Amino acid sequence: MCGIVGILGRKPVSGQLVEALKRLEYRGYDSAGVATVENGELGRRRAEGKLQNLEARLADEPLMGRIGIGHTRWATHGAPTETNAHPHMTKRVSVVHNGIIENFNQLGSELKSAGVELSTDTDTELIAHMVTRELDAGHDPAVAVQHALRRLEGAFAVAFIFKGHDNLMIAARQGSPLAIGFGDGEMYLGSDAIALAPFTDTITYLEDGDWAVMTREGVAIRDREGMAVERPVQKSVASALMVDKGNHRHFMAKEIHEQPEVVGHTLAHFIDFANERVHIPDLSIDFASLNRISISACGTAYYAGLIAKYWFEKLARLPVEIDVASEFRYREIPMERNGLALFISQSGETADTLAALRYCREQGQNIASIVNVRESSIARDSDLVLPTLAGPEIGVASTKAFTCQLAVLACLAIAAGRARGTLSEETEVELVGALSEVPRHMSAILREVGAYDALAHTLAKAGDVLYLGRGVNYPVALEGALKLKEISYIHAEGYAAGELKHGPIALIDEAVPVVVVAPRDGMFEKIVSNLQEAAARGGQIVFLSDAEESAAGCDLMTAIKLPAVHTFTAPLVYALPMQLIAYHTAVFMGTDVDQPRNLAKSVTVE
Ligand code: M6R
Repeated sequence: MCGIVGILGRKPVSGQLVEALKRLEYRGYDSAGVATVENGELGRRRAEGKLQNLEARLADEPLMGRIGIGHTRWATHGAPTETNAHPHMTKRVSVVHNGIIENFNQLGSELKSAGVELSTDTDTELIAHMVTRELDAGHDPAVAVQHALRRLEGAFAVAFIFKGHDNLMIAARQGSPLAIGFGDGEMYLGSDAIALAPFTDTITYLEDGDWAVMTREGVAIRDREGMAVERPVQKSVASALMVDKGNHRHFMAKEIHEQPEVVGHTLAHFIDFANERVHIPDLSIDFASLNRISISACGTAYYAGLIAKYWFEKLARLPVEIDVASEFRYREIPMERNGLALFISQSGETADTLAALRYCREQGQNIASIVNVRESSIARDSDLVLPTLAGPEIGVASTKAFTCQLAVLACLAIAAGRARGTLSEETEVELVGALSEVPRHMSAILREVGAYDALAHTLAKAGDVLYLGRGVNYPVALEGALKLKEISYIHAEGYAAGELKHGPIALIDEAVPVVVVAPRDGMFEKIVSNLQEAAARGGQIVFLSDAEESAAGCDLMTAIKLPAVHTFTAPLVYALPMQLIAYHTAVFMGTDVDQPRNLAKSVTVE
């Protein structure tokens, strides 16, 4: 979603602002802009589309201010045009904004009644006018911003610069994250520490409700009530984890290929391999006392939760209530106090997941989260944080974060089974052994990617693709379909194979590829029956299995032989072919693999 940067520098900052914005590109955007104060005057340049367009504008019409703000916009209110692009500006103030102002209509009507002419479709323009009216009323910039902020409802982050002030920037956070960076006689602002990594590793995160008055000499932070507050200054690891593609063509390819390593690291964090037992550091959950777990997440992280439901229920005999966070948060679900609510999120900033977490907090739940970004809002609002050690995930399509989430969830389900007395020591040793084999199986798959390239040529011609799975591999099929649709734009749906006859089989004809997730497990014979039903109607079967092709008992379009894996760990291993099918198809089709249209990496609005 939208990205914000700000720099109080000692030389012209527009080039650095664009560099910082490039590091936020992964979040997804459709227009961009920068504004600076030069000789006391505000100036801005904006452009639709990618940052190259903004760079071209700046090359034609440079901005030379030494203080500036920049923005990548993912359209919410109003189309992704240059007019709607940020920064928004009046004669006195320029503002960039991430998030949604929920009382947009009311504020807009008030401004219009007061004679203000609005020139864009955005909620952000309203903020610029509100602050301007406060300035016109004689307030200084800090008071003007404070007054305007009090009127805004919703989740947002904002940054302002002012006409006539070349050493003043004001930023505020209400829901959407903001990091302040400290330099040598310079100060920085960014939606995350990755944006600031080239400039500084010394970072403070604003808390919800904070607003900060920044000059080149430092920052003064106040909380919602206007009280001066200190926030911890920390060393960011973002620069150590510098984001580049290595030898890969796309971040997604790099992240797919990193999985043996990062899943191995994540497992090592939660497993005592010497004793072949799971060991969750600082585990504060009393699994034996629980009647159920509630899991809530979005997108790929939700599918990780769906897989975990099978694991918790089987290994720990612990019922799991799971829903997508956007439904969970409004369902008014009754919850027994002192239950466990578990949230899964790569970014740790997904607005719906965060809202579901806050609902569960109000319901007296203990909050645990599985996150990839340790400084994130979800991590900070949790009683227990179980980190995935995936490193920064830049490709919009989640890959390594998903398998690392599964690694953590697998360990947690084993720990729950042990605590509840439903898992014998012998079985734990067996499952830990299976998990320790996962990185090796992943490496084997990644050494043989030729088949995916060939398959891509066929899938690229398809209008619809079905993915089928059963049991714990049903969510793997859902994830496969999501991966394909988000980066190739081919319509794809995942189904529980047993549901085929209840509707989706009507879609099948000779033009429909059917990807079947079929590890040789207790459900193998059943899914083979389902794939034969699809093949009998002309469906073009893509058979993913450790079994021989002949075991499918019908003609196959493609068979991809996968390593024989333990039933428990199949979802971690079969996730890779799902990713590779989508990646190779998208590359063949020439789509924007890392930043697919309309999508954002971190979905900070609901
Ligand atoms: O950062 P989160 O894990 O909370 O994000 C959740 C979803 O937005 C995310 O998984 C999304 O579905 C991915 N684009 C899928 O590849």
